[in-house]
Amino acid sequence: MKADIEKLNKARKKAKELLAKMNINEKVGQLSQFGRSIYGGVESYYEDHYKEGKIGSYLGVTGANKTNMVQKNLMSETPHNIPAIFAYDVIHGYKTTFPTPLTQSFSWDTNVVRECASVSAKEAYAAGVKWTFAPMVDIARDPRWGRIMEGYGEDPYLCSEMAKAAVEGYQGDFIGQKDKVIACAKHFVTYGACIGGRDYNSADMSLQTLHDVYIPPFKAAFDAGAATCMAAFNDFNGVPCTCNKYLLKDVLRKQLGFDGVVISDAGAVVELIPHNVCDNVKDAVDLAFNAGIDIIMAFDPFNDNIPELVEEGRINIEDVDKAVERVLVIKELLGLFDDPFVEEEGEQCFFSPEHRAVARDSARRSVVLLKNEEKVLPIEKGAKIALIGPLAENKADVLGSWAGLCEPEKTITVMEGIAGAYGWEKVFYAKGCDIDSSDKSGFDEALHIAKQADVVILAVGESRDMSGEACCRSDLRLPGVQEELISKIAETGKPICAIVFAGRPIVMESWKDSVKSILFAGQTGTETGNAVADIISGEYNPSGRLTCTFPYSVGQIPIYYSALNTGRPALGKIRFEAKYMDAPIEPAYCFGYGLSYTEFEYSNLKLSKKEINKDEFLDISVNVKNIGEFDGEEVVQLYVRDLIGTSARPMKELKGFKKVFVKKGETVKVEFRLHALSLAFHNFDMEYVIEPGEFKIMIGKSSQDIVLEDNFYVKEGII
Ligand code: BGC
Repeated sequence: MKADIEKLNKARKKAKELLAKMNINEKVGQLSQFGRSIYGGVESYYEDHYKEGKIGSYLGVTGANKTNMVQKNLMSETPHNIPAIFAYDVIHGYKTTFPTPLTQSFSWDTNVVRECASVSAKEAYAAGVKWTFAPMVDIARDPRWGRIMEGYGEDPYLCSEMAKAAVEGYQGDFIGQKDKVIACAKHFVTYGACIGGRDYNSADMSLQTLHDVYIPPFKAAFDAGAATCMAAFNDFNGVPCTCNKYLLKDVLRKQLGFDGVVISDAGAVVELIPHNVCDNVKDAVDLAFNAGIDIIMAFDPFNDNIPELVEEGRINIEDVDKAVERVLVIKELLGLFDDPFVEEEGEQCFFSPEHRAVARDSARRSVVLLKNEEKVLPIEKGAKIALIGPLAENKADVLGSWAGLCEPEKTITVMEGIAGAYGWEKVFYAKGCDIDSSDKSGFDEALHIAKQADVVILAVGESRDMSGEACCRSDLRLPGVQEELISKIAETGKPICAIVFAGRPIVMESWKDSVKSILFAGQTGTETGNAVADIISGEYNPSGRLTCTFPYSVGQIPIYYSALNTGRPALGKIRFEAKYMDAPIEPAYCFGYGLSYTEFEYSNLKLSKKEINKDEFLDISVNVKNIGEFDGEEVVQLYVRDLIGTSARPMKELKGFKKVFVKKGETVKVEFRLHALSLAFHNFDMEYVIEPGEFKIMIGKSSQDIVLEDNFYVKEGII
């Protein structure tokens, strides 16, 4: 937790004084969160409960007026006048909706993530919300998993950088700043590794992968000061994360030194019963609390059982006191005891021009140009455009899942954006088909307008409820008859630019060759239309890069760039290789991939040394020249390979990235600093080592397009 030390000491003192006055029921009430979840809604504010001091926080009670009212009533009637915290899932915006976190990560720009979180926090704060359940920092390597949209992709280094930026944006420099909310790093840990990409399913992995891939983004979030952490729903190697002492005590508290509050996921404590680790709620509470859960999300099980468990000696009162102290400390640091209300005029900031400007800029920085044959994009002003597809006049689906209290009617559609840029008289619209139906009756009208146009823009993709929680898919192609619509339009021979809106990677094999250009927009939020129009018109030169691998087919999943070489890499030399008979082993689009309207040339890779020791670093520089016709941004990517290890090491691991703006014709020098410590990993015996030996540095435009390389040595490591 990041807090001013004086304030922290004062908060601890206050918490201790309160604890001395509280009875066991009142204490446990601080550990109970009430509110909207699949287990019930917020019809009432549970007056009976707060009168007995049984509510510590609310989930889903929002709005300045409402939170002030509930807080006022609660504080006047609850024992010791302890205020509640209002929590909400502010994931990519409260009202103004920013790109989904996955889409934001495509920007490879930590400022984008920080800024989106910061504006989201401002709007949430205005509505009385002081705690967000974000960022989700789960590594996701399986695009079937619907919640891939909520995180920052497949790579631990990139995800860590984004996690840090998000926490800084939400929480600020210390807990309790105006216009800031406390962050929650979730879901601890391995939730994204659910087998088969099926939400809530088990994660089964080596401790090495746990510590080298899944834990680092959480460490980054805690180092940035995240005040809270949410335990994951799933089981890790058989033991549910909600009652996993190894994860919650040994790793979270001891190894990572996390001193904030741990909350369960919604209903996850009682779900220990179907997990088959107990057969009644009381035992579930015993297991979860004793493993390290401080607050239960969703209702009464702690209120109903902890007092008795303490009585029976199954839970120590000292542990209850410690958990309550952590909660009260946060309430005091948030300033809730002194000033529990918010000013209602604050809500005027919703959808302000400044917030919309952040939404537009973050969206255009995050869109990825996957293909641009014959330079179809940008489209010249004056061109006659046929805009076709179910996402073209769509206000809700382009916002994505987990879109807070978004107001879809405020969305700028693709149609509005493009017509705004090119003139309404130049843009002809036909829906063509729905996102997911078998109805082809709109094809004829779509064909009709396509034939008369100079260029066709096809806005296709998923609906917002096809990704997000419990929205997993086993078929990653465009749903409904959209692929058929594309092939029909392609028969006209008109140049086509497809813009794909989706919460996850989409398999595009059957149609990608029939279009000239593809923009992968992800889900871009309130300012979608303007952001897309900026790119189509060349007002903004696309600079997004993928942060997760786009598979060629579902059968390749899981597929990620930092894989091992194996003993039989697929070199096409012998029959018995690590390959498929019916599909390539390469993805459709790799991690780090994305095009620009301009071209960049790399030269002059320089390493400050040829040899480093465990406590040293290497300075690396490279020149990047813009040799094309547009000013633009390039994402320079630094990968490393440990050439010989006691365990097989990944073929590439991202260790740095820089997004740089280069004017056409100009050259910039890009610099990286690589610390020896970033080469450490867990060996077979789970020792954290830097093995001496030779390493390869690779500078790439993507994880596949490596343009410069050199080698260096670690002389003295940690073994
Ligand atoms: C999700 C959490 C979320 C919570 C509260 C759960 O179903 O897994 O990520 O914070 O609901 O809405």
